[in-house]
Amino acid sequence: MTMTRPDLIEFEGISMVHYFTDNWEKVQTFQARPDDILISTYPKAGTTWVSYILDLLYFGNKEPELQTSQPIYMRVPFLEMTIPQLPTGVELADRLSTSPRLIKTHLPVQLIPKSFWEQNCRVVYVARNAKDNAVSYFHFERMNFIQPDPVDWNNFLQMFMDGKKVFGPWYDHVCGYWEKKQTIHYMFFEDMVEDTGREVARLCSFLGLSIPTEVREKITKDVHFDNMKQNTMTNYSTIPIMDFKISPFMRKGKVGDWKNHFTATQNDQFDEHYKQKMKNITLQLRTEI
Ligand code: PPS
Repeated sequence: MTMTRPDLIEFEGISMVHYFTDNWEKVQTFQARPDDILISTYPKAGTTWVSYILDLLYFGNKEPELQTSQPIYMRVPFLEMTIPQLPTGVELADRLSTSPRLIKTHLPVQLIPKSFWEQNCRVVYVARNAKDNAVSYFHFERMNFIQPDPVDWNNFLQMFMDGKKVFGPWYDHVCGYWEKKQTIHYMFFEDMVEDTGREVARLCSFLGLSIPTEVREKITKDVHFDNMKQNTMTNYSTIPIMDFKISPFMRKGKVGDWKNHFTATQNDQFDEHYKQKMKNITLQLRTEI
């Protein structure tokens, strides 16, 4: 598919591209159900990983044929998405016949459709340390034609620090959800890399699921990076807007890859700026494990 990269626009106080705002009225008036589970993240923080874990926890036994026939972006609709040749996220969510429905969003906390809060839906948020998150986002922009052109790493990093990335500033995103940490399940990408099984168990406890140990162990294996990278239903190879020759969706899945990208000067500037931006918050993220 030939696609022109979109311009960055200012929308509801954040930077966006029209692919995530074209359906705004329907997104904002989306009718959540009490058992819906909202998976929310800043882009590239581990959305697909957690989506697949939840998908297996709920439907791995009940509807195993779904995992081999439908890509993850159909099973876990991306609510605000409106991209050519695919149904919108709202349409996909409305069509889901599962209970619960698993729904993905990258919207910052203040833009979440209000019915999710009114219905007391469970919200799972994943945060990833800013440096690795930025690196992953940079490679994603290179290969994904519905994102603005990142130009080069230096340019990307400056814009990331300025908050001029699609879905707004990383800093506000992770901090906004942190304010709600008592009522949502706030997870970290680094914890998942360190001990996936432990994080699956914590998720089960948040969701009130009692899953036998051997099933959890099997899920932990199935969602390992190498398995998800090979799995055409989870590796995004079936979506027409990405060029894997530039960079694959399942790229490295590591903590600390930022060290291969940041120069010493960029690192010093980033750390200084980060300290300022995050000075009033108790939230701590690990840049290595
Ligand atoms: S998106 O487009 O926002 O939904 O992307 P998202 O899924 O949030 O993030 C993609 C990054 O998560 C990594 N990933 C994983 N890492 C380890 N283990 C598993 N199973 C896994 N699944 C996805 C993926 O490789 C991207 O990170 P990078 O650093 O680019 O590799």
